[in-house]
Amino acid sequence: MKINKYSVTFLMSVLLISIFISCNKGDSPDFSIERLISEMTLQEKAGQLNQVSGYNVNYDKLLREGGLGSFLNVFGAELTNRVQKIAVEDTRLGIPLIFGIDVIHGYRTIFPIPLGESCSWDPDLIQRTSAMAAAEARASGVHWTFAPMVDIARDSRWGRIAEGSGEDPFLGSVLAAAKVRGFQGNGLMETNSIAACLKHYAAYGAANAGREYHTVDLSEKTLREIYLPPFRAGVDAGVATLMSAFNTINGIPATANNFTLRQILRGEWGFNGMIVSDWASIHELVVHGYAEDKYQAGIQAIKAGIDMDMMGDVYQKNIPLLVKDGSISMRTLDEAVFRILKLKSDLGLFENPYVDPELERNLILSVENIALARESAQKSIVLLKNENNILPLNKNIRSIAVIGPLADNKDELLGTWKCRGIRDDVVTVLEGLRSAVSSTTTIRYAKGCEINDDNTGGFPEAVGIARRSDAVIAVVGESAGMSGEGGSRTTLGLPGVQKQLIQELSETGKPLIVVLMAGRPLSIPWAAEHIPAILEAWHPGIQGGNAVSDVLFGDINPSGKLTVSFPRNVGQEPLYYNQENTGRPGGRSRWTSRYIDSPNSPLYPFGFGLSYTTFEYSNLQISSETLLPGGSMTVTADIKNTGERAGYEIVQLYIRDIVSSVVRPVKELKGFEKIYLEPGEKTAVEFTLGHNQLGFYNQQMKFVVEPGEFRVWIARNSEEGLEGNFKVNSK
Ligand code: BGC
Repeated sequence: MKINKYSVTFLMSVLLISIFISCNKGDSPDFSIERLISEMTLQEKAGQLNQVSGYNVNYDKLLREGGLGSFLNVFGAELTNRVQKIAVEDTRLGIPLIFGIDVIHGYRTIFPIPLGESCSWDPDLIQRTSAMAAAEARASGVHWTFAPMVDIARDSRWGRIAEGSGEDPFLGSVLAAAKVRGFQGNGLMETNSIAACLKHYAAYGAANAGREYHTVDLSEKTLREIYLPPFRAGVDAGVATLMSAFNTINGIPATANNFTLRQILRGEWGFNGMIVSDWASIHELVVHGYAEDKYQAGIQAIKAGIDMDMMGDVYQKNIPLLVKDGSISMRTLDEAVFRILKLKSDLGLFENPYVDPELERNLILSVENIALARESAQKSIVLLKNENNILPLNKNIRSIAVIGPLADNKDELLGTWKCRGIRDDVVTVLEGLRSAVSSTTTIRYAKGCEINDDNTGGFPEAVGIARRSDAVIAVVGESAGMSGEGGSRTTLGLPGVQKQLIQELSETGKPLIVVLMAGRPLSIPWAAEHIPAILEAWHPGIQGGNAVSDVLFGDINPSGKLTVSFPRNVGQEPLYYNQENTGRPGGRSRWTSRYIDSPNSPLYPFGFGLSYTTFEYSNLQISSETLLPGGSMTVTADIKNTGERAGYEIVQLYIRDIVSSVVRPVKELKGFEKIYLEPGEKTAVEFTLGHNQLGFYNQQMKFVVEPGEFRVWIARNSEEGLEGNFKVNSK
């Protein structure tokens, strides 16, 4: 380590903290979790299973009695050290607390919402943003994030679509693993990593009609093929914890579901980590009508494998009684306690329960973190339309009108789950543009309207400045609160009078660019037809305004591609590309699978996104005509940058199993590569396709690869691509 002022202070603090904690349990050579458990009373064991939200002095008594194992929503080095000191010094056994919080897309440095970031198709970027969020959180006394949220979402009405990586299980799995690696870093002991938590297990995103917390009724095949893969990938990446979901799955609440928790997660996948309930979801077993009372709920949840009760008030109060009356065995309780103590031990909390406030001050919102927030926002932006290449704009343009309720809005850019992000950290689009243009450019601003009311009183001013300017940028969309938990919608258009606003702006005849900010795909068929340029920026985080400006002026060539299908109208939902074929695929005839008032196809398909350059796909090559069990083949295509700018292209590999014992989707993503090409540069992109990647769950729920014909595409999106064929033989 290079010695400087900062490191001297840091070393001194570490020394002081080490003296402070030298009497801690973990230091003792004969410390073992088993021994600790053998010393615990029933109440102390039940206490470890108890997690409450937010510290206040009313918790002190319970804490001192060993009635609390964890806090959520308690953060900050000073506060966590203070509360931790009570647990370590003033309880009989001195067991440290674990502090958890929802670090979903950044701790203080807020990155784009996860749905946005997933559009980068960039696991390396996502690993880096997760790692940075982890470092900030850990420095602030947080040991555990309730992330990544890996729920596949095929229905944009569901507000929590904002928190995940979209509709595809393959991409979702790659990104889930990247986030786990990012959060957990080189090991939980490190001062820059935190325990990750895959959530919400399972199938929460399949809520009926996209309504929050609603019933989930789905086949085991769909559960295993669509909703479970990202969890499996996270488990394989070594995730420390998992959270159970609020919903039922085929009538059984996820929080008491022996099939998903015991049989699949612990049994088939061998997951040994800790499982936490969602907020009060153990208690809600009663509300579901699955448990008669809290006692029965406690029995059901702990037997299904839920170790920690988040804000349920069930375990701590009732488990001692339930063990005494024989409803729960001591062994079941000890297993849950063991997993919690093991996590604390893996985090190094027995040796070092405290954090260094100096580190917190230096690390949070550092220059590097802010730069990464800008990079991730740039890479999340998807260019949906760019008629006649009206973008990028020239920085010497004489005047720009910047309009819309999100154009100079600091709060909403943070998106859902802003953790400790604050409005003052946010650069708005107006600010980003102002700092980018030349000194001769005039920027005029008018809000035009609010996000979600019916007042058009601001239209004349907005239209007035549009008329006087050479280009108009309208930043419209949803507030942060319109997506996320409890943010389900039955309409997917622009809220309030924003559509009217852009219609009036379009009538001025000025070049109009619409920048969308939202937590979900919005259905914007009118804009898609009439507005020449549309940029999807999602809720882009603290550097959103700079990133949007970077793209509008071409400092950055947009490269994001959609990870969720954009509907033409809400009635198409749930909408996803990897659907099965019907016996009457949609066509012109009435007697086919279609709507009478809308095409089946999405407005913008999964995998779609434009660039300021163009890429030509050619020369699909498949290394072999047949594939045998255990074998693999390569599928290659040449991709050439045929435009005048360098740029990234996200190249996608899809397959289709033509005939099988269970009908298969019309396309399934099996690989992707993000490549960077200079103008005129051409490269061969090669994918390896293994026999085991071609399987599915058959009628007996066995994962099989069946012989027969397959189609394969190397594609720019889920609708367009080069197509080839190969066969799978059984021998
Ligand atoms: C959410 C979880 C979250 C928890 C703690 C719940 O309401 O469903 O995603 O981790 O609260 O904040």
